[in-house]
Amino acid sequence: MTEHEEIEYHEILITMLEIIWGEGFLSPGGAEEVALLLAGEDIKDKNVIDIGCGIGGIDVLLARDYGAGSVVGVDIEQPVLDHSIARAETEGLSDKITYQLVEPGPLPFEPASFDVVFSKDAMIHIPEMKGPLYSQMETTLGRENADRYVEIWRSMNVVIESGELRPGHLRAIKPDR
Ligand SMILES: C[S@@+](CC[C@H](N)C(=O)[O-])C[C@H]1O[C@@H](n2cnc3c(N)ncnc32)[C@H](O)[C@@H]1O
Repeated sequence: MTEHEEIEYHEILITMLEIIWGEGFLSPGGAEEVALLLAGEDIKDKNVIDIGCGIGGIDVLLARDYGAGSVVGVDIEQPVLDHSIARAETEGLSDKITYQLVEPGPLPFEPASFDVVFSKDAMIHIPEMKGPLYSQMETTLGRENADRYVEIWRSMNVVIESGELRPGHLRAIKPDR
């Protein structure tokens, strides 16, 4: 564990999310949504970083099904990385997929270390999208897309902060607040 705070994705939450979203996934959509994200992109033999890799189901897809040359999964919590490391071993992909525990914030890699930057459902954890990340997003995506992204993130946070995304919601019981 890094020093950022206490573990959020503990074993019970991991188990619950895998029951909901499928083995290896902490976010919705599974392999189908990864296919949508990668539509039109050829990552064969490319060096990929997966930011906020979670428990590694996606990294197996990137290496095994999409032929990535290498995948480096980074996350801020060791327990999810332990799952990822075990999964890569079970799949016989430890030579292609490696993992690194990082601190939240700037990543410890030189610029242009990777061909492809992949990230799925990790940005929801970034507390301030209009903060230091914004100028980079604007440069990379253009202002219109960056603003659209921030708006999606802002709306999602409204839902999260309302409490609607608690486990009670997933059981279809409206939280009592
Ligand atoms: C909703 S899970 C998604 C995991 C995986 N991408 C998936 O779709 O199954 C979000 C992950 O992002 C990680 N995370 C949160 N803040 C992060 C940060 N600043 N840098 C890297 N990873 C982060 C969490 O620990 C968690 O594993």
